[in-house]
Amino acid sequence: MYYERMKDKYEKLRTKEIVRILSIESSCDETSIAVVENGRKILSNVVASQIEIHKRFGGVVPEIASRNHILAVSSLYKQALELAKISQNEIDAVAVTYGAGLIGALLVGVNFAKSLAFALDVPLIAVSHIKGHIAANYLTSNTLVPPFVCLMVSGGHTAILNVTDYNTHELIGSTVDDAVGEAFDKVARVLGLSYPGGPNVEKYAKDGKASINFISHSPMQGTFNFSFSGLKTAVINYVHKLTQNGEPVSVPDICASFQDEATNELVSKTINACKSLSTKKLVVAGGVSANSMLKEKFERETKKLGIELYVPGLELCTDNAGMIGSAGYYLMKDGLGLSDLSLTAKATVAL
Ligand code: KG4
Ligand code: ZN
Repeated sequence: MYYERMKDKYEKLRTKEIVRILSIESSCDETSIAVVENGRKILSNVVASQIEIHKRFGGVVPEIASRNHILAVSSLYKQALELAKISQNEIDAVAVTYGAGLIGALLVGVNFAKSLAFALDVPLIAVSHIKGHIAANYLTSNTLVPPFVCLMVSGGHTAILNVTDYNTHELIGSTVDDAVGEAFDKVARVLGLSYPGGPNVEKYAKDGKASINFISHSPMQGTFNFSFSGLKTAVINYVHKLTQNGEPVSVPDICASFQDEATNELVSKTINACKSLSTKKLVVAGGVSANSMLKEKFERETKKLGIELYVPGLELCTDNAGMIGSAGYYLMKDGLGLSDLSLTAKATVAL
């Protein structure tokens, strides 16, 4: 019954002049709720980070993450409405991340979204976290429209996508093992740097020299695929060897060298993909897009080739609900994503 009613409402939303979507993100260790207007304008985007809670465990503890999402979600909802200066009756639809991520964590957002959509009698939009990261760029750059090439670099994914339209893309290449964010986190861990590793590796790298050569050549040559497991293992072995020999470990130099090799790999494969697809527009998405060395290298290379570069604003690089609201809007515009109340969480979603 609910779903039948919503089909009608969803169709009408597609031509409504102003559409306000309340969106929810809880796939990992950030609980976030946003209100986004017409896919481009953030009316509010509140994030409750659990970083401090998980820091002492050196990584995200799924059960603890789920419990803290439950504690945060209702008050974030109120805050998001207050900051957006709208009442709940002005919400046109509810969008939620259904995957990829930690099942227990995702379920908190999904169940909250289902209850809310049912109570407000508005459509429920199921959004993939990956689509959300791409859409973060629509919030940062109002003029950005597909087609473009996208480098997706997060804790769970590393891939090059040929984004042909808001809801269509093809996979050009992806990692065959670790995601680059995961490699940053594991390198940080072996160096005793606290969670989350990526920003800490970047911080230490600023004082170091990229003087260590961890791997002799780029893996997966001649393809658009990545492999970061070899580089990660080389760093770990290097650190263990120094420690066993009682030799000093230069954390800044190791961070600088690892970051240099990892970002070179991302930049060269992505630029080659742009050349091969004759694309003049490049979008970077996901948590690792916060890395300033990656951004600088892309700025340099794209300038040489006359390619427009888009990177999300810093607060939109990592997980937030604003990006889910934007992706939800574009699903709705194409008549996609409408879900019934049987929606459940998925640990993985296809790229
Ligand atoms: O997109 P995201 O917030 O969550 C996932 O969907 O995975 O990405 C988190 C990842 C983590 O691996 C984190 O270490 C990495 O992004 N990250 C960074 C930086 N900021 C976050 N990696 C390198 N440099 C950064 N500044
Ligand atoms: Zn993410």
